[in-house]
Amino acid sequence: MQKNYYILFHNTRVNSPLSSYDKRKSRQSFDRAAHRYDKSAALQQQVAAKLIALQSKEGVQSVLDIGCGTGQVTAAMCVDYPQANIVALDFAERMLLETEKRLSVINKSATLVCADAECLPFVDESFDLIISSLMLQWSNDLTQNLTHIHRCLMGKGQLAFSTFTEGTLKEVKASWKSVDGLVHTSDFMGVDTLKQSVEAAGFRNVQIHQETIVSLYPKVREVLMDMKRIGASNAHSDRSKGLTGKQRFAAFESAYEIFKQADMNYPCTWELAYVFGEK
Ligand SMILES: C[S@@+](CC[C@H](N)C(=O)[O-])C[C@H]1O[C@@H](n2cnc3c(N)ncnc32)[C@H](O)[C@@H]1O
Repeated sequence: MQKNYYILFHNTRVNSPLSSYDKRKSRQSFDRAAHRYDKSAALQQQVAAKLIALQSKEGVQSVLDIGCGTGQVTAAMCVDYPQANIVALDFAERMLLETEKRLSVINKSATLVCADAECLPFVDESFDLIISSLMLQWSNDLTQNLTHIHRCLMGKGQLAFSTFTEGTLKEVKASWKSVDGLVHTSDFMGVDTLKQSVEAAGFRNVQIHQETIVSLYPKVREVLMDMKRIGASNAHSDRSKGLTGKQRFAAFESAYEIFKQADMNYPCTWELAYVFGEK
């Protein structure tokens, strides 16, 4: 079968020796989840819609969507900027296939690139808008990653991205901590550190909008299942490598009980930052 996208991943270094995030495992999880992603991605859809609504740029000629997933942001870019050259990048090939399907339904097309977001395969000053929804929190070195993004933007180009910040998954973290003290979730940056990172990469006029979303679940295990279904399993290199045994999981569920609400639902908190900056 002919492939309608470029694969540039195999030549890149998948994990640097200092990686705290296991990219190989994460890439496999997202690849496996691609076909079912949209059914469990209500939060991601809500966040992407808000990012798109908040970002505004006139006369956009070229857009890069980093970590495009199944292409919801890419599709919106194709509609909002019909004359622009749109490029969608993801390291999971099957996510790109889903993006291709989504675009063909609305009769649009984009250049699809299978590559690592931390090794962007583009020459300097290639895009005037670079957008990314809920991907950059997995950067091993956010400032370095944003420096590459800055390099790929044209003069006066705009960066727009959404990411999780400190406080995300606080109920999950606290419950696991009381059980075994091991790393079961990613660590998320505080907003001040995030802003410093974006500025250190060279961006000006950095604006951050914050939002807290609390998802409610009838069962504790549904909290974790939702993340698994979209491929966002814990890919931290220090994660517990053994099986999460039944007894430990039962202890986790019982620790989560203290968060149970009057309506019998279990909350899961997501702290969002919508970040905008200019080159
Ligand atoms: C939570 S999904 C978000 C997808 C999409 N932006 C959305 O809003 O639905 C994160 C996406 O980033 C991709 N991703 C994660 N790390 C990546 C990396 N280092 N390079 C390229 N893509 C990456 C995953 O494959 C996945 O498709």
